[in-house]
Amino acid sequence: MKYLETDKKYKRYTITTALPYANGPVHIGHLAGVYVPADIYARYLRSMGEEVILIGGSDEHGVPITIKARKEGVSPQDIVDRYHNIIKQSFEEFGISFDIYSRTTSKAHYETASDYFKRLYDEGKFVEKTSKQYYDPEAKTFLADRYITGTCPHCGNEKAYGDQCEACGTSLAATDLINPKSALSGAEPELRDTKHWYLPLEEYEPFMREWILEGHKEWKTNVYGQCKSWIDQGLQPRAVTRDLDWGVKVPLPDAEGKVLYVWFDAPIGYISFTKELVQNDWEKWWKDQDTKLVHFIGKDNIVFHCIIFPAMLKADGSYILPDNVPANEFLNLEGDKISTSRNWAVWLHEYLKDFPGKQDVLKYVLCANAPETKDNDFTWKDFQTRNNSELVAVYGNFVNRTMVLTHKYFEGRVPQRGELNDLDIQTIEQIKQFPERIGRSIEQYRFREALNEMMNLARLGNKYLTENEPWKTIKTDASRTATVLNISLQICANLAVLSAPFMPIVASKLSDMLNMKQFAWFEAGGCDMLSEGEAIKQPTLLFEQIDDKQIELQMQKLQAAKKENELNQASVAPQSEDISYDDFSKMDIRVGTILEAEKVAKTKKLLKLTVDTGIDKRTIVSGIAEYYKPEEIIGRQVSVLVNLAPKTLKGIESRGMILMAENLDGSLSFVSPDKVLKNGSTIK
Ligand code: 2FM
Ligand code: ZN
Repeated sequence: MKYLETDKKYKRYTITTALPYANGPVHIGHLAGVYVPADIYARYLRSMGEEVILIGGSDEHGVPITIKARKEGVSPQDIVDRYHNIIKQSFEEFGISFDIYSRTTSKAHYETASDYFKRLYDEGKFVEKTSKQYYDPEAKTFLADRYITGTCPHCGNEKAYGDQCEACGTSLAATDLINPKSALSGAEPELRDTKHWYLPLEEYEPFMREWILEGHKEWKTNVYGQCKSWIDQGLQPRAVTRDLDWGVKVPLPDAEGKVLYVWFDAPIGYISFTKELVQNDWEKWWKDQDTKLVHFIGKDNIVFHCIIFPAMLKADGSYILPDNVPANEFLNLEGDKISTSRNWAVWLHEYLKDFPGKQDVLKYVLCANAPETKDNDFTWKDFQTRNNSELVAVYGNFVNRTMVLTHKYFEGRVPQRGELNDLDIQTIEQIKQFPERIGRSIEQYRFREALNEMMNLARLGNKYLTENEPWKTIKTDASRTATVLNISLQICANLAVLSAPFMPIVASKLSDMLNMKQFAWFEAGGCDMLSEGEAIKQPTLLFEQIDDKQIELQMQKLQAAKKENELNQASVAPQSEDISYDDFSKMDIRVGTILEAEKVAKTKKLLKLTVDTGIDKRTIVSGIAEYYKPEEIIGRQVSVLVNLAPKTLKGIESRGMILMAENLDGSLSFVSPDKVLKNGSTIK
């Protein structure tokens, strides 16, 4: 018997996950927004006995990848090879149950994407248009918007990009920039004619209105709302090709130097990877009306998956369209937007180094706090609390107590259930409802709610055990203890099945400890999953406390990232007014050696130094006490401005100045010769 009605009409499920760009590792934002929910959904459906494929892969084209390659002086292929492997490994370690995780530089993908374009081209689905685009006359190439910099017409930022000004956040067209420059050569770009192929989205507008606005009112409000706003603004033709040398070549004779736009080829990746997975049997996963297609993505991908890709599928005409696109909002980190370039992220590969074996804990926290309806915040404090007071104190504690008591009183065998009292009957009734309740939430893409329901089962078990005090009844009524432990063990068995989509590693450890056979989802809910008399193993802990020190360490890591970032962001002081050589030569700067150093009493910043300038030995008061201890600078050679007029500081006459370099964060460093010189040597 199956509990749920919702999906009866489908025979199989094609589940896709947004393809992450292979220009950096993956972080908690990726996991929370896309891969955790998709994995829960796929695991649940498999447990329901459904036919499922979960498709993923790396998005290896696009301008950000070519930019990173140029910066590092390597090829784009080098960049994507590096990150594809890191990303793939992170997903494996986190147990995202992909049936295939491929990449858009695979041969199969080039063929599929190229054929897809060619077919639409042959059927006249594109419009050819010539437009003016910036061209770099020195590098002899057209420039992607990101490769052009110039002054923002809105805020005056001189380092705005041709697609966006990062200072004021305005979206720009490259032609908006004042004083545009090519990032490749520094040359001033010229506008030249170039031909591209466009998908005339406006022709699909009536269809989109009908299909989404009328037909999919059940889509999440954020998704439906974005679609409506796009459609209401009027859909525009979209270029599906670019002048670039990294990507899938446009398969036409007169298209030298042109590739498919990354957002045209990437979603076709879902189809290519299906072909790689099942070869000739792929069509049923993409063309059969009995197949349910679901795209898991983040909110920045909504328009591509709800409008543009469906228009591409519709243009072909033989494909099914997504039944749902349960896009999530964004996850922030400690109150700030997650950012790869600012290193403001918890990287999955680093998390695993710091918390080995705790994949499921992170997945649990990310799901409990998933940005399903609004942006949400990940904090390390919340991570610790959820681990300690939910996973350890409820789930782990309940399982452990139940199993330890079974060993203590019944030699590790499932005890016999005796007569049931009202509470037992009520509890058994309640247990029955969980598979359906959790399943219904999952089917409606409400994963937080589903997870909370699963935890309610653990809470129910924990409460039942505590209230019945089997450790007390054992003295007076052993059969009562047997009944309570039997029911508690049945709850553990239910948990092993019903928590598996969320915490597969923990769930399989639990099944193993209980010596359980594999149960399908709809076989859970009962209280005879474990047979009386069967042996269970000795329990080991499923979860461990996470202490303050571990959390501190993570916070320090983030602080360090913030500091480094501030330093990168700090602007260099503008150049001062010109001076004459005479002005400069008035300064008499010499190499000197610090002979003595001591703190000036009642000050934080000042050190009193005795310096051998080669001319004399003199006292100089210097504001460096926050950066150097007196004992560590004795004997050090420094640069001294010796003819600065004397000045009295805190009652001490200072004769001269030690030259210091000031870092962008305000910290000071000596400016010293790179080998030992005679004191008194001049600096010019
Ligand atoms: O936003 C992104 O990270 C894109 N690489 C997602 C692509 S999803 C799909 F279309 F391939
Ligand atoms: Zn601006």
